[in-house]
Amino acid sequence: MYEREPGIERLYPSIFGRMATRYYYLRQLRQAIEDVIRDFVAKSPRKLVLADYGCGNKPYEPLIAPFVEKYIGIDLAVNKIADIHISPEGQIELPEKSLDVVLSTQVLEHVVNPGEYLSEAHRVLKDDGQLILSTHGYWMFHPDPTDFWRWTSTGLRKVVTEAGFEVIHFKGIIGRSAMGLQLFQDGITFVIPRIARPVLAMIIQPLIMLFDKLPSQAGKDQDACTFILVAKKRVKQ
Ligand SMILES: C[S@@+](CC[C@H](N)C(=O)[O-])C[C@H]1O[C@@H](n2cnc3c(N)ncnc32)[C@H](O)[C@@H]1O
Repeated sequence: MYEREPGIERLYPSIFGRMATRYYYLRQLRQAIEDVIRDFVAKSPRKLVLADYGCGNKPYEPLIAPFVEKYIGIDLAVNKIADIHISPEGQIELPEKSLDVVLSTQVLEHVVNPGEYLSEAHRVLKDDGQLILSTHGYWMFHPDPTDFWRWTSTGLRKVVTEAGFEVIHFKGIIGRSAMGLQLFQDGITFVIPRIARPVLAMIIQPLIMLFDKLPSQAGKDQDACTFILVAKKRVKQ
């Protein structure tokens, strides 16, 4: 299930490859992650220890590893490439205040209890630590191993703030009409023969790209396919 090859495909999808139906989205997500790593991790005066919390097949490790002292992959016990496993009670097997950055990409929608997941990130972060998190606004159902939540921009800010963080950067990726096309494409993709899917993607993906550039997409920090945020740990007095 967790192999390196799909991670690379996720990072650099080809319009002709297996990830063609996610071509535009995955490129936008990678760019957004590169931007926050550049602005909030690489610019730090000291090299930071970063944990990828729900790392999957570690698709973003190659983007991050050059800028950190250490990259640690954390995941459920089923993920054999994770460096640290989460206990059955949901705890990260690390002492409190041991990390500079917790990265969480496309995990929050899968966790049973988002508040507990975020509180655990808060516990393992140092007092000046940062959470970098991306998760879905509009997206199709995709269990891994479960799929529970979708977020509005205000709902996501609320759950992160209530877990003890201050949001300092917040960005939406892919606005309404482009996202509508993505969902339209997904609605068709899984009912047509596999061989026809890249052809459909080659028609729809450029349209998604075009619609995402329209001025009407300006409100995407409120309404988007995916949100990415950076939050500082608030220290309880
Ligand atoms: C959609 S994958 C995302 C993987 C990777 N972060 C990425 O961006 O490709 C969701 C990941 O969340 C992990 N996960 C699910 N529930 C979790 C939990 N309670 N705590 C930590 N990770 C969890 C899954 O094992 C899976 O690796």
